[in-house]
Amino acid sequence: MKLVVTGGAGFIGSNFIRHVLAAHADDSIVNLDKLTYAGNLKNLADVTDSPRYRFVHGDVCDAKMVRDVLRGADAVVNFAAESHVDRSLVEPDAFLRTDVFGVFTLLEAVRELSIPRLVHISTDEVYGSLATGSARESDPLRPSNPYSASKAGGDLLALAYWQTHRVPVVVTRSSNNFGPFQYPEKVIPLFITNALDDQPLPLYGDGRNVRDWLYVVDNCTALDLVLRKGKDGEVYNIGGGHEVENIVLTRDILRLTGKPETLIRPVKDRPGHDRRYSVDSKKVRQLGWTPKHPFGKALETTVAWFREHEAWWRPLKSGELKAWYRQQYENR
Ligand code: NAD
Ligand code: DAU
Repeated sequence: MKLVVTGGAGFIGSNFIRHVLAAHADDSIVNLDKLTYAGNLKNLADVTDSPRYRFVHGDVCDAKMVRDVLRGADAVVNFAAESHVDRSLVEPDAFLRTDVFGVFTLLEAVRELSIPRLVHISTDEVYGSLATGSARESDPLRPSNPYSASKAGGDLLALAYWQTHRVPVVVTRSSNNFGPFQYPEKVIPLFITNALDDQPLPLYGDGRNVRDWLYVVDNCTALDLVLRKGKDGEVYNIGGGHEVENIVLTRDILRLTGKPETLIRPVKDRPGHDRRYSVDSKKVRQLGWTPKHPFGKALETTVAWFREHEAWWRPLKSGELKAWYRQQYENR
């Protein structure tokens, strides 16, 4: 299969490219990425020289460039997005642009070039906060922050292109991913790297918000399955099945890094902070997916990876990310 992966230099995209190249000897991949602050070609250093991999620097909102790159592809997998909720609260413009208009640009190109499959990567956040139970794919979308609202826009647009133009889209809605190469602004890599540096862990609000954690390698096997076996016009939830309160997760990270709980620093809550996400993953399990990495073991592996890859994360924490946090504090 000739694949185009957009946003492949980010966290999940780079793990997905590595997975596909290893699992499917006949597949080749073109990775189209804008290289925003979150895109990092070091995430793919081990596959850069593969004759089955090629990188193209570009923006999914650039219609001409997107058409040129997509021509002749068997499938497109769209990871490209602005992905961090906190940033969407202060700089929402880029979210609307990439997460809505970028999806539109891809849909138009897929339609014009009659590409047989577009997997659009959405998120469980589009369902909004759930007090009880788990969201089914047919449930209404109730996004509550600019990130999830933009993602819901792209998600619904993709489904509308199936309804109106029979553009062969499949939409996935995964829960919170974690693992190697996650940018250290997201809670797990942020807390691991802060703990390793004996820095405070800024826990929002009462620390009792719940997320359902999914190891990125398990997400990639689910996405790969949906790419090959998913049905056009369908949505597939992909949940880790491990719901945990942030305070419990924080204590786990401190235990695994061998650091004291005195590092926990309760801070002002995130505005509009969703209390709990939960998805019902029956449908993707019926396609044949089962997650293979139990949470405890996967978190241990992730902590070990960050310990061993300081050269990867240290420049990120001391450069752009530090500047971003400084700007946040100055604005308060
Ligand atoms: P990330 O922020 O690590 O990576 C995003 C990538 O997209 C980067 O490489 C960036 O350079 C690229 N990009 C951004 N704007 C672009 C543009 N206009 N054109 C081309 N490339 C662009 O994100 P991630 O955590 O790997 O998430 C990937 C996808 O999965 C996103 O669509 C996100 O909404 C979705 N998702 C993430 C999670 C999670 O827990 N991380 C869970 C569910 C869904
Ligand atoms: O649910 C899927 C979503 O998961 C993805 O669509 C998003 O791209 C991804 O960023 C993630 O969103 P969250 O907002 O859930 O992830 P984040 O890592 O930012 O926060 C996880 C929880 O930890 C959340 O309840 C907020 C809390 N938190 C986060 C940070 C960064 C803190 O308490 N302190 C922090 O410093």
